[in-house]
Amino acid sequence: MNKLKHTILITGGAGFIGSNFITYFMKKYPNRRILNIDKLTYAGKADNLTEVENLENYHFIHGDITDSKLVNQLFREHDITGIINFAAESHVDRSINDAKAFGQSNILGTLTLLQAAQLDWDKKGELSNRRFHQISTDEVYGSLDSEGVFSEETPYDPRNPYSASKASANLLAKSFGYTYGMNVVISSSSNNYGPKQNEEKLIPTIISNALAGKSIPIYGDGKNIRDWLYVMDHCKAIDLIFHYGQTQATYNVGGSNEKTNIEIAAQVCEILDELAFSRRSALSIDSFKDLITFTEDRKGHDRRYAVDASKLTNELGWKPTEDFTEGLRKTVEGYVQKWKQTSLIH
Ligand SMILES: NC(=O)c1ccc[n+]([C@@H]2O[C@H](COP(=O)([O-])OP(=O)(O)OC[C@H]3O[C@@H](n4cnc5c(N)ncnc54)[C@H](O)[C@@H]3O)[C@@H](O)[C@H]2O)c1
Repeated sequence: MNKLKHTILITGGAGFIGSNFITYFMKKYPNRRILNIDKLTYAGKADNLTEVENLENYHFIHGDITDSKLVNQLFREHDITGIINFAAESHVDRSINDAKAFGQSNILGTLTLLQAAQLDWDKKGELSNRRFHQISTDEVYGSLDSEGVFSEETPYDPRNPYSASKASANLLAKSFGYTYGMNVVISSSSNNYGPKQNEEKLIPTIISNALAGKSIPIYGDGKNIRDWLYVMDHCKAIDLIFHYGQTQATYNVGGSNEKTNIEIAAQVCEILDELAFSRRSALSIDSFKDLITFTEDRKGHDRRYAVDASKLTNELGWKPTEDFTEGLRKTVEGYVQKWKQTSLIH
């Protein structure tokens, strides 16, 4: 009956990275069955998946990964051969305002998936063959001064509830590897940018505020540094790590592309000055940069993240290919186009 060789459970696939990943993955592997479980929080959008939603081998489950009854049922009904766990509360600011949902989805949710997979795969004698891929972040390593980079050996030192919940999830995943011999792999990525990102995140906020003629808020002195990675480069890294990464290993994924927040804001505004010329004139400003406003710093704001991804390059041959200037332009163009479609102002 089932001619498809693999059924992969993807969680949080209606979010930014998950939806880009599913679209990429289903094009590349048309013979895989994909189950996508997503709670559709404020960050999850069914619209992100229009390219795959009608495919016969794509199945969407509107549900919560903390719901062990539902997750166990998925394992009973489908022969799940791998899991890629994207589902998470992902916004640091929200975690500072209310950390509870982060404990629920990021820690308890991961534990629920680990337990269900462990029970099912153990019964089938497949515990060491089938793969649990935990999607993580460089934020688990804490914050850097102006020198140094995070390697896979850097001790975890999370500083905010979001990164603490992601570090906890990684530790649980590692523990299932050590305790039960489960085939776990973790990838820890730097900041992603690209299409379909939630409007609360830095780059979409800069664009939407600029086009609305509102101030563009930048925390503190704007000199916090992030290492930016185009989302499709991340998806390609996940594909490689999921298939070929060593069992129980962690791989860092980064763009070697450090930028301060104020540099990002200025660059996005320059692109907008060109692409949304008439909007800028209508707002009577010389440049969208005029809207940049420094605000009170984020509590516990990590100063700098920088990732050493050489293990991934040396072992699996991965390298980011998107040039930052081009990737950012493409990203901004996409958001502006969408804005023009939904707005009466041009
Ligand atoms: N965005 C980045 O720059 C970045 C960088 C490194 C790592 N990550 C990690 O990658 C993953 C995806 O990040 P993103 O930016 O796409 O996040 P996102 O917030 O855009 O999407 C998260 C998705 O998870 C879903 N979700 C949340 N809680 C759930 C639950 N309990 N059950 C089922 N679904 C749930 C949401 O509905 C949403 O669709 C996260 O694990 C995040 O920690 C993100």
